[in-house]
Amino acid sequence: MITNNGNSWEVVSNNWALQVPYIREREYNGFRQASEKEHLSIFPVHAVRRDFPILSERLNGKQLIWLDNAATTQKPACVIQRLDHFYHHENSNVHRGAHTLAARATDAFEEARKTVCQFLHAASSKEIIFVRGTTEAVNLVAQTYGKQSVGEGDEVLISHLEHHANIVPWQLLCRETGGSLRVIPVDETGQVDLAEYGKLLNKRTRLVSLSHVSNALGTVVPIREMIGMAHAFGAKVFVDGAQAVSHLTVDVRELDCDFYAFSGHKIYGPTGIGILYVKSEILKDLPPYQGGGNMIADVTFENTSYQDPPSRFEAGTGNIADAAGLGAALDYVSAIGLKWIFSYEHRLMEYATEALKTIPGLCLIGTAEQKTSILSFVMKNVTNEAVGKALNEEGIAVRTGHHCAQPILRRFGLEGTIRPSIAFYNTVKEIDEMTRVLKKIRRNQ
Ligand code: ALA
Repeated sequence: MITNNGNSWEVVSNNWALQVPYIREREYNGFRQASEKEHLSIFPVHAVRRDFPILSERLNGKQLIWLDNAATTQKPACVIQRLDHFYHHENSNVHRGAHTLAARATDAFEEARKTVCQFLHAASSKEIIFVRGTTEAVNLVAQTYGKQSVGEGDEVLISHLEHHANIVPWQLLCRETGGSLRVIPVDETGQVDLAEYGKLLNKRTRLVSLSHVSNALGTVVPIREMIGMAHAFGAKVFVDGAQAVSHLTVDVRELDCDFYAFSGHKIYGPTGIGILYVKSEILKDLPPYQGGGNMIADVTFENTSYQDPPSRFEAGTGNIADAAGLGAALDYVSAIGLKWIFSYEHRLMEYATEALKTIPGLCLIGTAEQKTSILSFVMKNVTNEAVGKALNEEGIAVRTGHHCAQPILRRFGLEGTIRPSIAFYNTVKEIDEMTRVLKKIRRNQ
């Protein structure tokens, strides 16, 4: 996909070529030729930053510091340009045979599906379903596979770490089917308790649904091991990868998960587009989720037959331009390399953790050994809202509140936290600036 044209690197896909200015030859070649140890210190963060136009924005007279990446990530110019290109040159519905623009739009959509397939290391792009986001993916699985497999007395397991979107659809399912929802506890660090998980699994367990990375604490959950344990009882496993895909390399075949979902906007792509991967052996017998155009083989007033997957699950006109934008975002992170992104972000997270520990009365929530990119904390005698407001006045964006994960925060006796979350365009200087403002809040108290 990536080629060098002599002056710069280029990402090339079948019907469209896009300059990726961040991979300037000098910076990128230096980066590629360095040893693993050197990579950590020479990650081309300033080159990366130049690709994100919004990072030059000034707020309240200050330079924007975007540390709300777990809520949504900013978009590189190549993604913005990809959307622009679609609406300038390709816009149509995806009915290939009709005319030239329809063929271009269909190619753009299907090319993006192939990119996602490669990104997740799936066996076939037929296993890739476009959805609005992770939330829709969980609902789709609950209402199709869930209804097919969970009956009276059957069990669905989730962990205490889950986002509301990975709790409520299963509650709704269990209420409808007479199944029961059981919760895997976490320890004091915010890591799932594998021994307790082992005890909860039994022959009535039909589904286990797990976050790969906790959105509230940043815990990286040992899903590989947990998937193996579930399969030993014949249970299928859904993985919510919303907070994982922008940090960790995901190989669905190596993980052997049955379902994997993520949202485009958390990985530098557009909002309103997401992915559900379903293993083909499950997908082939899965009933439709919604009815409508595009998923139909034949309709009479008496009966309807459906397209094969993935079209069977994509009723109505899809989010075509944003799918293409997501493809561009995945090309972008793949060209840099998730391995290097993870190393850099991890180093920055460790640096930020040490810096936060120097602030009196600041308590970090979520201290698991395996963590990525999220730092949740509270400050003694200051409300989370006051901290968020003071940071915002200095141009620093973090999320405060319950992060749509009330059960895990209540596990730690809290109703909310302050949550800076790191991406590969954040810098040590930005962490220093956040620390400086937090120290000022403490002093002024
Ligand atoms: N799930 C998103 C978050 O954690 C919205 O902020």
